[in-house]
Amino acid sequence: MSLRDRRVDYETPGLDIGDLDPDPLVQWQNWYESAVARDAPEPNAMHVATAANGVPASRVVLARGADERGIVFFTSYDSAKSREIRVEPRVAITFVWLDVLQQVRILGVAETLSDKENDDYFASRPRKSQISAWASPQSEEIADREFLIESSMRFEEEFDGREVSRPPNWGGWLVRPQQWEFWQGARNRLHDRFVYRPSGSGWTITRLAP
Ligand SMILES: Cc1cc2nc3c(=O)[nH]c(=O)nc-3n(C[C@H](O)[C@H](O)[C@H](O)COP(=O)(O)O)c2cc1C
Repeated sequence: MSLRDRRVDYETPGLDIGDLDPDPLVQWQNWYESAVARDAPEPNAMHVATAANGVPASRVVLARGADERGIVFFTSYDSAKSREIRVEPRVAITFVWLDVLQQVRILGVAETLSDKENDDYFASRPRKSQISAWASPQSEEIADREFLIESSMRFEEEFDGREVSRPPNWGGWLVRPQQWEFWQGARNRLHDRFVYRPSGSGWTITRLAP
């Protein structure tokens, strides 16, 4: 079917302001936990958009933490995204769960996690993933896949018989949300859309046109 003729109507119960938790983090957790319960693929996947020097760039990462401070993901601090965040720490995050036509958008400010949090999370990763963090110079040009395989073997040997330490250039970014938006697809393209903006110690919730 051609792209222009592909059309699916969104049959969902919709979303009203009374369905929303006053705390956007709790609302996000409700949607995320529903996605987990439905066995949605990679329910913690999110797009992170950077905008260093006015140049947009977006990629998917996995959320590895969500608490009252914000949303956490892990990556190489030497990657393109990390270099871009250092230039412009304001980032946009988008979660999407297509099976239920739900989207959450977050505008926030990113900061690095502490060494302790980075070490604790790194220690919890499977050993092969730990080795890959050493082996892959993320975002750099490499000649071929062989490079990665050889590099992994080299680090397997280096760490043979001992724990894999965290590479100093690998760790987490904590994105502190300044605004959240929850979108629910609905019939006839009349979707439901609510934005949370900070107000005093809480948030105001406003409906936006879809
Ligand atoms: C489902 C999925 C999950 C991913 N998770 C991560 C992640 O948690 N951390 C990460 O650095 N890259 C992750 N990636 C790869 C990134 O999308 C991206 O290719 C990589 O981080 C390099 O981006 P950059 O060059 O813009 O820094 C993931 C990609 C996909 C599709």
